[in-house]
Amino acid sequence: MSVELHFNGLVAPAAPGETLFACGERLGIPVPTSCKKQGKCKECVVEVTAGMDRLSPPGPEEKHLKGNFRLSCCTRIAAEAGTVRCATMRRGTMKIEKHAFALPTGPRTWQLDPAVTRDGERILLDGVEIDRGTGPLHGLAIDLGTTTIVIRLLNLETGEVIADSSFENPQRFGGSDVMARIQYDTEDRTKTLQRTLTGYLSRAITEFPVDPRSIYEVVLAGNSTMRDLFFRLSVHSIGQSPYQSLTELEIAAGTRTTTTLTDTARRLGLPIHPQARVLGLPIISGHVGADAAACMLAIDLAHEERVVAVMDIGTNTELIVGNRHKVLAASCPAGPAFEGGQITCGMPGLPGAIEKVRLHDDGRVETGVIGDVPAEGLCGSGLVDLLSELRRTGRMNELGRFEEAGQDFVVASDGDRPVTFNESDVNVLAQAKGANVAGLQIAFAEYGIDYPQLDVFYLAGGFGRHLNLESSKRIGLIPNLPADKIVQVGNASVEGACIALLSRAKRAELEALVSRVQHCRLETHPGFFDYFVEGCQFAPVGGTPVAES
Ligand code: FES
Repeated sequence: MSVELHFNGLVAPAAPGETLFACGERLGIPVPTSCKKQGKCKECVVEVTAGMDRLSPPGPEEKHLKGNFRLSCCTRIAAEAGTVRCATMRRGTMKIEKHAFALPTGPRTWQLDPAVTRDGERILLDGVEIDRGTGPLHGLAIDLGTTTIVIRLLNLETGEVIADSSFENPQRFGGSDVMARIQYDTEDRTKTLQRTLTGYLSRAITEFPVDPRSIYEVVLAGNSTMRDLFFRLSVHSIGQSPYQSLTELEIAAGTRTTTTLTDTARRLGLPIHPQARVLGLPIISGHVGADAAACMLAIDLAHEERVVAVMDIGTNTELIVGNRHKVLAASCPAGPAFEGGQITCGMPGLPGAIEKVRLHDDGRVETGVIGDVPAEGLCGSGLVDLLSELRRTGRMNELGRFEEAGQDFVVASDGDRPVTFNESDVNVLAQAKGANVAGLQIAFAEYGIDYPQLDVFYLAGGFGRHLNLESSKRIGLIPNLPADKIVQVGNASVEGACIALLSRAKRAELEALVSRVQHCRLETHPGFFDYFVEGCQFAPVGGTPVAES
């Protein structure tokens, strides 16, 4: 007798007593480990989505895990029949934006000036010898997002991108947003989040087609929580008002002069040259992190005369407005709704996610689904399209009420269960949007400009890249600006990290720019509540009329 085990989409029989890790190995699934299945490294986490009652109960090694998460090396099949479904934290096929587009910092608008150089056979970091050899010199640029991780491997002497890698952030077992991760890390105290991420990063690094010991520097962008967790700093203060990173508190106390972090690869556990430096780019505040700073480098804000804005919509939306003379930053606590969280049929950008929606006059619902599979749920861009189409066709009013009150809207019904959408989902999305709009309104008001005065509106991040602009404008998720002013730049954060990796001058430029950014605190702004309530309505924000197409 055996259980039918579905592991990362592969199916095999599994006998009682077998660990999930052993089953994974049998199926050829690379489950991360650095403790040889001893229950110590905590890297082998899997999410069990069915059949938890057919598994052995959690042991003491798993007390840090909640919900459906288990350590695969400690979890055994405990039944003789039935189905168990599980997956490693790296779901692999997630749609992750690795590239940047239409940036003003194209190749060679700046000089290669890496911190790692060579003098004959001597390999130097900031002029100090750290190795000898004649092979190529490599570096890594990493964007650590709450949901996704992107790594680029570069040749430091030519600037060439040699390889890249991306995966879902394996810290998902610690919660889907930064506040949940902060709470998890504060209670855990064994650095499980950091160790799990390091395990996944290490695997990705060893899969690159170069000798890992030829990697001599890493530049890391990411929100303040992800960055500080990776550097093993306490993130507790980021979760408490006034929401500051330990590095900001240390600056205030006079014990450091910059929020930039550095450490050696050896201390942080990365399998590259042990004396390689890992540099965390500076942050602007506890909730406007090194990813936003990297974006400023990518759009060349230090030399920008025009007034531009950058918006990276996510669980925490970051917003920057300004130019080389004056810069203002804000963050909006939007929550996970636009990433599919807290929505009845919401899901990340995985195969089966509806990413496009069109409602026809005859009532037909046309959908675009990621991958060649039946629809399972709605990801962020699908949710924005759906809201916009419900508004355009009059099926939903500005307040988010359905024409047919109380009825679920069926978006697709070709999968195992119908994909539906209801007024409660609309409410959750309205609040997420309200926070974004309040951030926009307050940032523009504080800066002293109206939307028409803006020259360029950059939409950064994977979500921003895949949004339908007309849909987004119709529901007021982004300002109602002419199409030629909106630029979807994709992963500008990893692009900024690459620039910082390849140019010490750009690093210095960023450090100076970050120190000049005015941080606008939304939570204490007297107009926040009014802007938030107004922003919860599904109506265009500022600018010109939205095209009816
Ligand atoms: S393999 Fe290390 S804890 Fe499971």
